[in-house]
Amino acid sequence: MSEITRVAVVTGGTSGIGAAISAALQQAGCKVAAGYVGNEEGAKAFHAKTGIPIYKFDVSRFYECKAVVEQITKDLGTINVLVNNAGITKDVMLHKMTPEQWNDVININLNSMFNMTRHVIEGMRDQGFGRVINISSINGQKGQMGQTNYSASKAGIIGFTKALAQESAGKGITVNTIAPGYIKTEMVAAIKPEILDQIVAGIPVKRLGAVEEIAAAVVYLVSDTAGFMTGATLAINGGQYCSG
Ligand code: CAA
Repeated sequence: MSEITRVAVVTGGTSGIGAAISAALQQAGCKVAAGYVGNEEGAKAFHAKTGIPIYKFDVSRFYECKAVVEQITKDLGTINVLVNNAGITKDVMLHKMTPEQWNDVININLNSMFNMTRHVIEGMRDQGFGRVINISSINGQKGQMGQTNYSASKAGIIGFTKALAQESAGKGITVNTIAPGYIKTEMVAAIKPEILDQIVAGIPVKRLGAVEEIAAAVVYLVSDTAGFMTGATLAINGGQYCSG
């Protein structure tokens, strides 16, 4: 990493893929703030283990995000790395889906992109440096039965990334998407075992991904050497979906 101090915020940063990202960025020399909303005990345990400060806020609420960005800026400095990782699933076929199941997923997975990035982008533009990394999904690329809400939100992230990358390139800011496949997390563990077996059988490498395999890509995107990569979608999915 270069002389520019990286101050990173990772939403959903205390569990699953997000926890691995927070830890890897800390290891790479960033000052890291990890966001969480529900699992207080898990977040405290993560803090106790890593020393990474934790912040409780809801990424679907614009002004809560504003307040926490201001607090983190006071505590750690101007935020120049944002990892929009927080996300949920509410899997159900569309013909049974409620407006709540639709709206919750869109608000948390997609509207969060605006709610968080809006508050850090001006600081990055002023600093002439920034890294925004948005965590999408293989299911935003290929679609997935039972996930019209999730697939729509994750596909939306890819469009958001490409547009913001073009807006920001002249200001030293890169904006990229990572689209993980099925990774060994609690989210994936919640899939019915017989369906999960079917999914793993369809992954050419014949296993779930590891959280560290996503975190390593984030560390790369945050580095100076990744300065020429922007607007890209990194598909890390064991060959399950080979996108162009
Ligand atoms: N791949 C292949 N077949 C699937 C499937 C999948 N992902 N999901 C469901 N099916 C099949 C089932 O095997 C079943 O087939 P049969 O009728 O031949 O037995 C059929 O679809 C209906 O499935 P259910 O009996 O489970 O029907 P349901 O109405 O109770 O539930 C469902 C439907 C909501 C789609 C449920 O099956 C489900 O949750 N599937 C998993 C969906 C999924 O892959 N979610 C990913 C979560 S992890 C994640 O999102 C992280 C990420 O970014 C990758």
